[in-house]
Amino acid sequence: MSNLELARAGRPDSRIKIHGPEAFDGMRHAGQLTARALDLLVSEVKPGITTQSLDDFVFEFAMDHGAVPAPLNYRGFTKSICTSLNHVVCHGIPGERILKEGDILNVDVTLILDGWHGDSSRMYPIGKIPRAAERLNAVTYEALMRGVAAVVPGGHIGDIGAAIQSYAEDERCSVVRDFCGHGLGQVFHDRPNILHYGRPGEGTEMRPGMLFTIEPMINLGKPQVKIKSDGWTAVTRDRSLSAQFEHSVGVTETGVDIFTTSPAGLHQPPYETG
Ligand code: MF3
Ligand code: CO
Ligand code: CO
Repeated sequence: MSNLELARAGRPDSRIKIHGPEAFDGMRHAGQLTARALDLLVSEVKPGITTQSLDDFVFEFAMDHGAVPAPLNYRGFTKSICTSLNHVVCHGIPGERILKEGDILNVDVTLILDGWHGDSSRMYPIGKIPRAAERLNAVTYEALMRGVAAVVPGGHIGDIGAAIQSYAEDERCSVVRDFCGHGLGQVFHDRPNILHYGRPGEGTEMRPGMLFTIEPMINLGKPQVKIKSDGWTAVTRDRSLSAQFEHSVGVTETGVDIFTTSPAGLHQPPYETG
């Protein structure tokens, strides 16, 4: 590290935007719209349908609610959502693949409402899934929520990754290193990077008004990934199952606001209602 980097290490990073109450209101509205789309997908996702039909559904939902799907035409991405099936880690492209019993699917929705980005993803089991897949989904959701619980002003971004990594590895799972959470707000991907591994006390200090995502990708096998020839789809090198959950959050004076909580209480499978 340079002297400048040493001086900065662990100190507040002035390049990270600090947002006010209007931003928190905007993020809550966008986040809640995204969460409602994810709630509605629970009854859309079933054996026999294509991932393209889910893309169509979210596109229509966005249009009906005055929102724009952020992925559409983002850096050459041509769809409204990401659909990542089984050993796909993230950025799966919706298409004619038909969902079948036993699959696990991540749907990642980002809606822009009044200029603010709500970014969230959940896992969807297709019918009855193997026990190992159920366990991976549960471990990944718990990993996300342990990361969220580490968000506190005066804490460090490394606390988030440390909480996620220590839990996931204790559960004999691995943390993907090649993708991270990100600052967001009126831009989709901003400073800071939120690594899903690390050590407590490392990295930038968290301050009230920071907005970012936490979105751990957890594998049953090894952490290594490769990108397919479409330039987007990331898959596990060992073809082991991968899962991901994502929330958009804001640092408050006392802790954390989660913008993308499920209005219907459908945070994680098995999505039993009533
Ligand atoms: N929603 C993803 C994230 O969590 C990003 C998708 S970018 C796309 O950051 F272009 F692949 F859609
Ligand atoms: Co994200
Ligand atoms: Co996302």
